[in-house]
Amino acid sequence: MSAARDYLAAHGVQEALAAAVSEVLRSRPADPILGICDILTAKEAAKASMSAASGAKFDSAGALLSVGELPPLRKLGEGKVRDLYEVDAGHLLVVVTDRISAFDVIMLNGVKGKGKVLNQLTAFWLRHLAENGLGIEHHMVTDDVAQMPESCKRHASILEGRSMLVRKLRMLPVESIVRGYITGSGWADYQKTGSVCGHVLPAGLQLCAKLPEELFTPSTKAELGQHDENITVSQASEMLGESIAEDVSKYARRVYTIAAAHAAPRGVLVADTKMEFGVALDASGGAPLILGDEVLTPDCSRYWPSEGYEAGKDQPSYDKQYVRDYLSSIKFDKKTPIALPAEVVGATIEKYIAIYKLLTDKEPVL
Ligand SMILES: Nc1ncnc2c1ncn2[C@@H]1O[C@H](COP(=O)(O)OP(=O)(O)OP(=O)(O)O)[C@@H](O)[C@H]1O
Ligand SMILES: [Mg+2]
Repeated sequence: MSAARDYLAAHGVQEALAAAVSEVLRSRPADPILGICDILTAKEAAKASMSAASGAKFDSAGALLSVGELPPLRKLGEGKVRDLYEVDAGHLLVVVTDRISAFDVIMLNGVKGKGKVLNQLTAFWLRHLAENGLGIEHHMVTDDVAQMPESCKRHASILEGRSMLVRKLRMLPVESIVRGYITGSGWADYQKTGSVCGHVLPAGLQLCAKLPEELFTPSTKAELGQHDENITVSQASEMLGESIAEDVSKYARRVYTIAAAHAAPRGVLVADTKMEFGVALDASGGAPLILGDEVLTPDCSRYWPSEGYEAGKDQPSYDKQYVRDYLSSIKFDKKTPIALPAEVVGATIEKYIAIYKLLTDKEPVL
């Protein structure tokens, strides 16, 4: 046993592991060679039990609904679509599930493959924005599991393609929406008041009309189960402070213009998009903004084919609008989760893959 202890000490095995190894060794003969073999076997067995993912949930079609436990990572919580884990004091692991929410309600089933498309598209856009003049940092450290710490790598089979190691940020309490075209809640507000989030717009705009310039239209960031509400730019200014609000508006519009310029030659219009910014955890006044969260995915953006685009009517789209339209057609109560029919799930993933291919010129790895 002393040889075993020396071996463990020399190899810096954690206490829990050492206990498990000692347990196996207790009943073994004192043969030194056999002892070492046992240590190695026991070490692997103990490691496996300490690191096994557990509790992942899938729907009957194989969509990942919840990632479950990824020891030793501490699960911080679940958003509507993402499961978040703490990697260390400064970093999070964001895992994108196949959950789908519409009207802020999470559906009972998922859309198999959607999480991978969203994660890979966000990674694409963060790199593209950084290379094309974003002018501030983004939160992604890597989306390659092989480059992540050991605590993540051991869960590679569930994480591959759908996860991102990010800098942990203090997220701002507003969502930054930029609209190039008028639709959705912007259209509803315009019809009622002639303005959107305090921007007075020209009279007589038609549904889905192109706006004279892209608009920063903030909204609140609601708690799970609540709805985000549009707020005016001056309300955002009161919440964030004037200079942060100005920066948020500036960089959000920059994200939009870089994206719209990339999408245009690919026959795609970016009607609007929603993003989130944060600041470094230890930041004090005047700290630079950092772009976080998902970016320019079909969950948080409206993408329209430019061919056939015409104001005055709804547009066909490559995004979650299709699911909202289906739910409206069945008079969904916007409260009670339901299961989407297989054909709606199938058409949704097709649209998500189509926009991924158009924007990146690549196939997603599913
Ligand atoms: N770098 C980061 N540091 C800290 N929190 C982050 C970071 N990036 C994103 N987040 C937070 O992670 C959560 C992601 O959750 P998710 O997108 O699933 O849910 P949601 O935002 O509630 O829903 P939806 O996107 O459908 O509105 C959000 O609360 C977002 O603010
Ligand atoms: Mg979100």
